[in-house]
Amino acid sequence: MCGIVGYLGKANAPSVLISGLKRLEYRGYDSAGLAILDGDKVLVSKASGKVANLSERASINWPPELFKRVGTGIAHTRWATHGPPTEVNAHPHLDKTGEIALVHNGIIENYRALRARLEGKGHHFVSETDTEVLSHLIGDCDKGDLFQAVCDALHQVEGTFGIAVISSREPGKIITARRGSPIVIGVGDGEAIIASDASAIVAHTQRVIYLDDDDIATVTADSVDIRDLNNVPVTREIAELGLDASVAEKGGYEHFMMKEIHEQPDALANAIRGRLDLQLGSSVLAGMSASQRELAELSRVVMVGCGTSLHAAMVGEYAFEDLADIHAEVQQAAEFRYRNPIIGNRDFVVAISQSGETADTLAAVKEAQQKGAFVMSLVNVVGSTIARETGRGVYLHAGPEISVASTKAFTCQVSVLLMMALKLGRGRRYSREEGLKLAREIDSIPELVNRVIAKNDLIAEIAENYVKDEHAFFIGRGPMYPVALEGALKLKEISYIHAEGYHAAELKHGPIALLQPGTPVIAVACEGPAKDKTLGNVEECRARGARILGIITEGDTNAEEVMDDFISIPKAHPLVATIPAVVALQIFSYHVARLRGCEIDQPRNLAKSVTVE
Ligand code: F6R
Repeated sequence: MCGIVGYLGKANAPSVLISGLKRLEYRGYDSAGLAILDGDKVLVSKASGKVANLSERASINWPPELFKRVGTGIAHTRWATHGPPTEVNAHPHLDKTGEIALVHNGIIENYRALRARLEGKGHHFVSETDTEVLSHLIGDCDKGDLFQAVCDALHQVEGTFGIAVISSREPGKIITARRGSPIVIGVGDGEAIIASDASAIVAHTQRVIYLDDDDIATVTADSVDIRDLNNVPVTREIAELGLDASVAEKGGYEHFMMKEIHEQPDALANAIRGRLDLQLGSSVLAGMSASQRELAELSRVVMVGCGTSLHAAMVGEYAFEDLADIHAEVQQAAEFRYRNPIIGNRDFVVAISQSGETADTLAAVKEAQQKGAFVMSLVNVVGSTIARETGRGVYLHAGPEISVASTKAFTCQVSVLLMMALKLGRGRRYSREEGLKLAREIDSIPELVNRVIAKNDLIAEIAENYVKDEHAFFIGRGPMYPVALEGALKLKEISYIHAEGYHAAELKHGPIALLQPGTPVIAVACEGPAKDKTLGNVEECRARGARILGIITEGDTNAEEVMDDFISIPKAHPLVATIPAVVALQIFSYHVARLRGCEIDQPRNLAKSVTVE
């Protein structure tokens, strides 16, 4: 949510910043801006809308020489929180003198009080943002030492921030700091690039430093000096990114979403590789670093997450109960700490997050830790805040997910949850034979997904029948219920069709009133104990004239007969089948959205990585 880039070094700052922003645009894309140092001046250019607008604006407003000179600058792409996405609200924001510029991710919660106090001292604000208040506060604190001014200002701030600050009075440096919003510093050869995530850095260097909360760094082209907010030096290791610059390219696909759908067999293979024990019929997950005895003593698994990650958790709930015979529940992360959950030291809390930065999930982690639970994370982004906060967890190894609509993260989350449940199950009631059978099925997931992806063209044809609809219902039972929820989420977020997911049995308790002749119902009715009941619910919808698209198991002619259209997926264990079933729905949603001409990778009002509550 919002992206920051800062640059110092041997290349042209505006060009580097704009290409960095393009790589971060998936995090927020309603307005953008950049500020560069030009002699004793700070030059600012901003535009509402996409980074392309900013690029055009800067090249009109600024002389061509500026795009040839070496320099220092900061830039931002925004997902609006305080004030609409107008040019005036876009970052960077300047202080009263116009000599200090700031970009900021996060929220300054006490900005109203700070603003009133500064107004009392003669400060005048032009935007509605909390960020402009922070830039004025830094200016107000600046007595000739920018680093100290930023420290002093941050001491007065409540809330979250990832920031980068430049001043024309102290050229050749960027001050950057974080609390609850990530900052990564890329350490190049005679250059440094600061960003809110590594995808803006990877084209420059593989060597990075992740700031911790309340770290503040003075960065020059050749040095990084990190301190805490009391000016005490701290040491942070340089890490290797291990990412290829091509991850942030579309690689011949029209959209990142389709690229990432196609990456799933490899991503899943990476998530599974080395983690299955095909001798013992179990799994080996170093991140579940507790003894088998400790694991056996756990009384409950509580999974927390948001959005797609919440849906993965719901599949996990079935897996833990079925395979490990352990009480499992899912809690919406945003609710977790406000409902004062009953959690103790025999509870196993699993925080699930692709980005590892979701504010609500992070808050739930802290609450669970506070209550003494055994907390671990299931995160994709290495070095992310949630991964570091839990200190114990299993990485998904899905590779960077750029499309705002999550695809490969979900399927990797589910496959890791299945392996976790298998491990717990083998320590409890699951036999070696049962374990081996499931382990082999998990091992085959990449191939199952490959077979669904091979149906892309067929699914694209089916999608044509649903392009003109404005409403759709997704139904499922058992582990296919969260698949139905995830299918509805995918369709609504990228195609803007109003789609609702329901437990198939729930439809007749109210929502069925909305069915009219022709209303599409997408029924996830793959083989499993709940299939026949789901088909019964399909009949209820057909009786009201609904048009049914079934996600069914290959060769299931009974199911085929009651569907208007169907996409079949390979036969698999009902928990494993959730993964190919969801892939079919991802591809379906993608084609509906494409045919409707939607901006698939950057749906309106959304952003990747939701770092505000
Ligand atoms: C939907 C989607 C979101 C995220 C949610 C949680 O396609 O991507 O619903 O799943 O914002 O994000 P993470 O997993 O990063 O915590």
